[in-house]
Amino acid sequence: MREPNRPEERRRSRVKNPTAGIIKSESGVDKPKNTQIRSRKATADPVEDLTAILSQKVVGQPTATRVIIPYIQMYQAGLAPEGRPVGVFLLLGPTGTGKTKTVEALAEVLHGTEKNVLKVDCGEFQMEHEVAKLIGAPPGYLGHRETQPMLTQQKLNAVTSEKCSLSLVLFDEIEKAAPSMTRLLLGVLDKGLLRLGDNSTVNFEKSLVFLTSNLGAREMMKEINPEFGFQSARPTDRADLTSKLQSIALMSVRKRFSPEFVNRIDCIITYQPLTVESLSTILDQQITDLQNHVNTRLGNRSFMLEVPFEARQFLLKKGTSAEYGARELNRTIHRFLTQPLATMVATNQVNVGATVRVEVDEPGDKLHMRALESEASPASTHPTVLLVDDNRDLLHFLERLMADAGWTLLTAESATEAKRLVAEHKLNAALLDYMLPDGNGVELGVEFLQAAPNALVIVMTGTILPPEEEALCEEHNFPVLRKPFLASDVMNQIRSRLMPVSAVRA
Ligand SMILES: Nc1ncnc2c1ncn2[C@@H]1O[C@H](COP(=O)(O)OP(=O)(O)O)[C@@H](O)[C@H]1O
Ligand SMILES: [Mg+2]
Repeated sequence: MREPNRPEERRRSRVKNPTAGIIKSESGVDKPKNTQIRSRKATADPVEDLTAILSQKVVGQPTATRVIIPYIQMYQAGLAPEGRPVGVFLLLGPTGTGKTKTVEALAEVLHGTEKNVLKVDCGEFQMEHEVAKLIGAPPGYLGHRETQPMLTQQKLNAVTSEKCSLSLVLFDEIEKAAPSMTRLLLGVLDKGLLRLGDNSTVNFEKSLVFLTSNLGAREMMKEINPEFGFQSARPTDRADLTSKLQSIALMSVRKRFSPEFVNRIDCIITYQPLTVESLSTILDQQITDLQNHVNTRLGNRSFMLEVPFEARQFLLKKGTSAEYGARELNRTIHRFLTQPLATMVATNQVNVGATVRVEVDEPGDKLHMRALESEASPASTHPTVLLVDDNRDLLHFLERLMADAGWTLLTAESATEAKRLVAEHKLNAALLDYMLPDGNGVELGVEFLQAAPNALVIVMTGTILPPEEEALCEEHNFPVLRKPFLASDVMNQIRSRLMPVSAVRA
């Protein structure tokens, strides 16, 4: 096997279009940071930004992120080798641990949508004759003109975007492919070229190729010990387990594929069984996604979903499966949360602005949902937000998004302008850039609080805050949002803080 070929050219240059939908800092002075609010240390490296965003989406698989990202950077820097794909990765490991999710998350980060992946389901190409579906039949075969090859240059180009010209190609469940397909793949991996039935070629030099496989999954399951569940493993056991899984994976790959095939793979990544902590993080994400889905789909008629700790524990317990990984969790959420919620909405049991609280039933075997009428002001669903930043692009971008959500937006490019607006309007939240042409966002926030003590103040910054400002934010409980951040992060932050759970509990 080729040495795990991590690109040497780990350039610190700025990635041209590293991410989509991320709000970037406006000047070279602003050093981009990660998307987390206060929970991670600041970085000055765009690769770390990409890493942070990707590892937020793909939980508990740090190796995958660490290994893949340098290849993207190498491409962005124009240093990818010619005559072969930018990178070839074989993703192995138990079901439901995030192999496919990794490719989808990359597509979302690079192209703005997880759909921008050219996916070939190798299970559909188990028989030799089926391979014609992939590359089209050669001339001379009856009906060859009607066969539309699955892999064409056009289809490869269609999964790029304005933001990024790199195609992500996924060959799922590669072990199922017929031998002739593996041979075709060999050409793709080796020369970056695929010859179609009509003798034209498809060029994969601007592609990252991902192969996923369940090879060794059964042996892995034995190691994971389904009897007690992998979560009982102590940390030392876990490290041991990791290396065992890795060697099982390698062995089964060598058994199934020829050395020349294995040699053309840049990295073999073994996905780890998800720990309880990872599953718990995924659960939180799924609940947030569900809330976002409710907000986007129902718009002005949306409501707040409240899932307390006990209910989350219930879902986690039901959704933990060594065999199916996070897939079981997804099924559990669907069964106990999404479906009953849909029934409540369909039967008009939830009023606008209400809170739906999820509770564990007495015997502890079911979840129960209760709609609580909201005493909260419309502020929680239609807040008035003040945005202060001298970056017009950012103002306009957020303005459009918030307007779409039915929020009222006030914008200012300076502290002076902002103070005038505060005097004239009643605000629910203020989003303040730290560096303003005529002042600083933290001090402005403190001033605002005097006028509107209940308003939510969020500080945005591209630089590390000086200690005294950091202390002020701490003291006044201002969340600090580091640029770049996703627009959805800031909207969710405002939503979750403005929905006064205590008000509806009363
Ligand atoms: N590491 C992970 N981080 C976040 N979500 C995950 C992770 N692993 C699995 N999931 C969830 O489970 C679903 C199935 O995961 P998938 O990536 O398709 O599994 P597989 O490893 O079998 O390809 C995903 O759509 C996602 O919702
Ligand atoms: Mg998969």
